[in-house]
Amino acid sequence: MARPLTSLVYDDSRYQKSFQLFLERSSEHQCMRDFIHHVLPDILSSVGNGKSHLNVIGVGSGSGEIDLEMLSILRMKHPGVTVDNEVVEPSSQQLLNYRVLVSQKPDLNYIQFTWNKMTASDFEEHWKVKKMTKKADFIHMIQMLYYVKDPEATINFFQSLLDKDGKLLIILVSGESGWGKLWRTYRHTLCNTEISQCITTGDIKSFLDSKGVRYQSYELPSQMDITECFTEGDEKGELLLDFLTEVLNFSETASPELKDGVLNLLRHPDCSVESDGKVIFNNNLGVIVIDPLP
Ligand SMILES: C[S@@+](CC[C@H](N)C(=O)[O-])C[C@H]1O[C@@H](n2cnc3c(N)ncnc32)[C@H](O)[C@@H]1O
Repeated sequence: MARPLTSLVYDDSRYQKSFQLFLERSSEHQCMRDFIHHVLPDILSSVGNGKSHLNVIGVGSGSGEIDLEMLSILRMKHPGVTVDNEVVEPSSQQLLNYRVLVSQKPDLNYIQFTWNKMTASDFEEHWKVKKMTKKADFIHMIQMLYYVKDPEATINFFQSLLDKDGKLLIILVSGESGWGKLWRTYRHTLCNTEISQCITTGDIKSFLDSKGVRYQSYELPSQMDITECFTEGDEKGELLLDFLTEVLNFSETASPELKDGVLNLLRHPDCSVESDGKVIFNNNLGVIVIDPLP
């Protein structure tokens, strides 16, 4: 009999391994880099209103590669500024990786890093307990809102920290991606109820629209090679399946019916295209940029 499904996030080491493999098998970071270099400069040029010091908060920064690229664009658009960068990241391993990356990069002296080994909600509590009044010019949460209990409350809190002209940048999978289809079909089976894992930018937009919050949005085309998922017993395929379903050891713990259903859906044209013997999953991302509270 199948054992109950456990969320992948409860095993940080396997989570980080499967995330790393996902990055290798997808154009995830490349499509973010295209956005950072071609669209973000205009967005960041308007923050700060001429200040010589800017406050940035990165929530769920991982190992920091994408954060540092965004910071370099911020500096390019505001030459001579100094930056206070709060990093909010609960994984010790990821925080260490980020610190190592920073230590290897020259020219980051203009940034003062504050390392917060905590979740977004711990950070919120810490901010409130310390009665912090500092306002932020740029806050980003990239591929992290899946891991909070209440994404709407999280967005509300971080939006409330924005200074006039500040921007809150959110990246999640697009509602039109293969992920969106997978989650619409299996939300009740795969998604953890304690943390809202199966959200897309489509869900966030509906919430923002209902509140009348102003935002801009962008779609980033991206792909993920999931061919290995279809080779029974393939170690990498199983790691990717864990990442796709967000279930720890999905192949071993899911019922045969669920496994068949998920594998069939993953290669269905609603989620993937097949070409040259490869199964390429639609990993399109959505970007939402929110203005400060009026
Ligand atoms: C998919 S990774 C994204 C990392 C990075 N932003 C990127 O795009 O490469 C999600 C990150 O969110 C972090 N995370 C998980 N739960 C979190 C929470 N409750 N609050 C803040 N970050 C969290 C994880 O440790 C992980 O580093």
